[in-house]
Amino acid sequence: MDTVQPPVLRTSSPLTLRPMTAADWPAVREVYAAGIATGLATFETEPPSWTAFDATRLPGHRHVATDGSGAVLGWVACSRESPREAYAGVVEHSVYVAPGAQGRGAGRLLLQGLVDSTEADGIWTIRSAVFPANTGSLALHERLGFRVLGRRERVGRRIVDGRATWHDVLLVERRSRVVGWED
Ligand SMILES: CC(C)(COP(=O)(O)OP(=O)(O)OC[C@H]1O[C@@H](n2cnc3c(N)ncnc32)[C@H](O)[C@@H]1OP(=O)(O)O)[C@@H](O)C(=O)NCCC(=O)NCCS
Repeated sequence: MDTVQPPVLRTSSPLTLRPMTAADWPAVREVYAAGIATGLATFETEPPSWTAFDATRLPGHRHVATDGSGAVLGWVACSRESPREAYAGVVEHSVYVAPGAQGRGAGRLLLQGLVDSTEADGIWTIRSAVFPANTGSLALHERLGFRVLGRRERVGRRIVDGRATWHDVLLVERRSRVVGWED
């Protein structure tokens, strides 16, 4: 039986951002699974293994938000979009906050942390694909300087019990104004 309880942010708890470690994976996985269960966050139907996650997400740009007790409330991570040298500074990210901790600034803290760490590392563009119905994610990204590039129609499918449902996504992207902007 799964005994891990989703964390709930206490109003008085200070939020802290710190690097994600392998020891955080059970908590990160739990938050990831809760986001998947909403049906609004991703095409995935279950979280990956730590091995797969670790192999594809850039070290140095995986962060967790914790409360005063140290409980993981959310996480952010990114992968290179393409192996091509031209796009070496372009990443695709994911950001997830536990249901009981949403609406208190954890998403903003995480995404700002990703903007800061990537810009410090010479990464110039962060992007993601967001389901049109995910108004919370769209609002968060807009606040952090992302713009909607466009809508990809029925670009992906989620297969559950052998049945496929097709979905549009909105491409959101933030171009740094400090990395590679003036030359
Ligand atoms: C999307 C998500 C990460 C937002 O995290 P959060 O901690 O709730 O967001 P925050 O409290 O930091 O809010 C950040 C900003 O977005 C706005 N916002 C967040 N959720 C919102 C909503 N549902 N409707 C309107 N605005 C919203 C807030 O008002 C805030 O703006 P402000 O800083 O100007 O006041 C969170 O809802 C989540 O994890 N959802 C499930 C997983 C998911 O969908 N991930 C994104 C995949 S693309």
